[in-house]
Amino acid sequence: MTEDEARKRIGALTEQINQHNYLYYVRDKPIISDYEFDQLLQTLIKLEQQFPQLLLPDSPTQRVGGTITREFPSVAHQYPMLSLGNTYSEEELRDFDGRVAKGLEGAAYEYFCELKFDGVSISLIYENGLLTQAITRGDGVRGDNVIANVRTIRSIPLRVTAPDVPARFEVRGEVFLPKKEFERLNRELEELGEETYANARNTASGTLKLQDSREVARRRLDCFAYYLLGESRTSVTHEEAIHLLENWGFQVSPTYRKCPTLEDVVAYIHHWEKRRADLPLETDGVVIKVNNLAHQQQLGFTAKSPRWAISYKYKPENACTPLRGITYQVGRTGAITPVAELEPVFLAGTTVKRASLHNANEIARLDLHEGDFVFVEKGGEIIPKVTGVETTRRRPGARPVSYITRCPECHAELVRKDGEAAHYCPNESGCPPQIKGRIEHFIHRKAMDIDSLGERTIGMLYEKGLVRHAADLYRLTKADLLSLEGFKDKSAQNVLDGIAHSRQIPFERVLFALGIRYVGQTVAQKLARHFKSADRLAAATVDELLQAPEVGDIIAQSVFAYFRNPNRLHELQLLQAAGLQFQSTVAEPEKKSDVLSNRSFVISGVFKHYEREQIQDLIVAHGGRVLSGVSGKVDFLLAGDNMGPAKREKAEKLGVKIISEEEFEKMLNG
Ligand code: IVH
Repeated sequence: MTEDEARKRIGALTEQINQHNYLYYVRDKPIISDYEFDQLLQTLIKLEQQFPQLLLPDSPTQRVGGTITREFPSVAHQYPMLSLGNTYSEEELRDFDGRVAKGLEGAAYEYFCELKFDGVSISLIYENGLLTQAITRGDGVRGDNVIANVRTIRSIPLRVTAPDVPARFEVRGEVFLPKKEFERLNRELEELGEETYANARNTASGTLKLQDSREVARRRLDCFAYYLLGESRTSVTHEEAIHLLENWGFQVSPTYRKCPTLEDVVAYIHHWEKRRADLPLETDGVVIKVNNLAHQQQLGFTAKSPRWAISYKYKPENACTPLRGITYQVGRTGAITPVAELEPVFLAGTTVKRASLHNANEIARLDLHEGDFVFVEKGGEIIPKVTGVETTRRRPGARPVSYITRCPECHAELVRKDGEAAHYCPNESGCPPQIKGRIEHFIHRKAMDIDSLGERTIGMLYEKGLVRHAADLYRLTKADLLSLEGFKDKSAQNVLDGIAHSRQIPFERVLFALGIRYVGQTVAQKLARHFKSADRLAAATVDELLQAPEVGDIIAQSVFAYFRNPNRLHELQLLQAAGLQFQSTVAEPEKKSDVLSNRSFVISGVFKHYEREQIQDLIVAHGGRVLSGVSGKVDFLLAGDNMGPAKREKAEKLGVKIISEEEFEKMLNG
């Protein structure tokens, strides 16, 4: 293909795919299959690789991410991003209406109501139709340009092609993580035994600030547009502006309504109070805007917020329901989680039957008694929580809830470690949910990636006595699998192939798969790189473990204990015999000098010229050590951008010298 032909083809594909994107993500009306869409995208990706100079600024290939932004440039907002005044009652709403009427000196006016989306506000700048900047709210005057991350949001047009678009305009909207994506993310974390995110809003906000846009793309953020700004007059009312946004390809929540009178506003508020629970994102209220833009201008702004708009906040929904009992869940690590079993109650769109009680301290704090009526609340969190007890409805003589002392699954006596809130079942080799949990962790996509196995199959294999630990997987025969319900030749072979394939998984992931407490993916990577083999890691003393980058006391103790546990060592031997990778293949950084010998460093923040790993390698290659936390043992805190203030404070207090990337480079050069 000549360059000219490629240019035409790339142009056509870009436009075509963008249009399909819009039909799928904004209109929810795709006209081609996912497969056909993928084919088009793959063709474009190949052409762009072949002719990188022809890549268009609105190419849909940017939606999959791949840009690393080390530092988001801070930029000034052309129009400050203000907040909204809040009201909590009809009375306050009438006061607002009174102020509007007065400000407009008797002119007739009407309102336009929208829901108040609980996400992260974003300002999208378009120049000559092209999305050029996406700025976070920041302090309202300046924000960060997070464009690479925002480009991954498929409901935000990369180019607006309508004939009537002004040369420059700005669209404000709310970026959010849809509830179902938030739940998906948390399910994944849960499977990994990692801490889950507390609520969708904070997760969305954290996601927009991630450096790796590929990870942002994976999280599938979404966006509702609700405000059009610009020099050129494009509309007379806010309603028209909203329709323009819709016509230009933005996603506007269809929940808006024009409300000619305050009574209509109140009806709108009541209408959505219950129904909002069915929306794909959290909403915490309603935004009431004066519809006519000339009226808006006349009313103007206070220092903090517009006088032409206000929000009405819904009270977080709560319900009062009897506690039927408490059940206790046992996790992979043996940690016990108490769960309140409730008389089913309808709350914010779903029937709530259970709520987490976290641990014994929380039960004590609530002073929970048997049969109590408890208040449950669903705030921004998906999992409802018990917020209190209606003590006036407590039965006379009701007994305080007493925490279990034995494991509900295997009846071993529970233990509670110093300084930890959770109780644990210590019977790690005999307690079914712990055994099954460890195997489920082992096969996880991010660990050994045996996706032909799942929770159900593990359960059946366990029931049949075919697996007791991960190593047993490598001894399974086809006959074993065919003895399970629902297995046919093909599915059995799939499982065997998946297991066989996992023998190639690199050591760092094998290490993560072992499920050593506190050894998540990152720590496993660091340990594998530092110790190079399972044998050397197993032989390491706590002090030696502490020498590995980012390993602190808690991790070191946990790894040390793991390799002193005869059961674990036995399993390890079996896995080694099964042919898994227990040697790191990553090359060791070559020794370069001794200029940093006897110097220890903590690395924090992001750097201009290096990845964190590169800095770690440099320190080690020059004879120095990398530690995980600031303590008296640390000589230097190597501070990049965005370092947390707590680290700086601690270093200052302990007299640890804080050095910059440039100073570090000088040290290396002697
Ligand atoms: S209009 C000049 N409409 O609420 C004010 N804001 O407290 C223009 N928000 O930062 C804002 N949903 O992030 C508007 N339908 C909606 C909204 C909305 C949520 C957020 C927005 C803003 C904050 C103000």
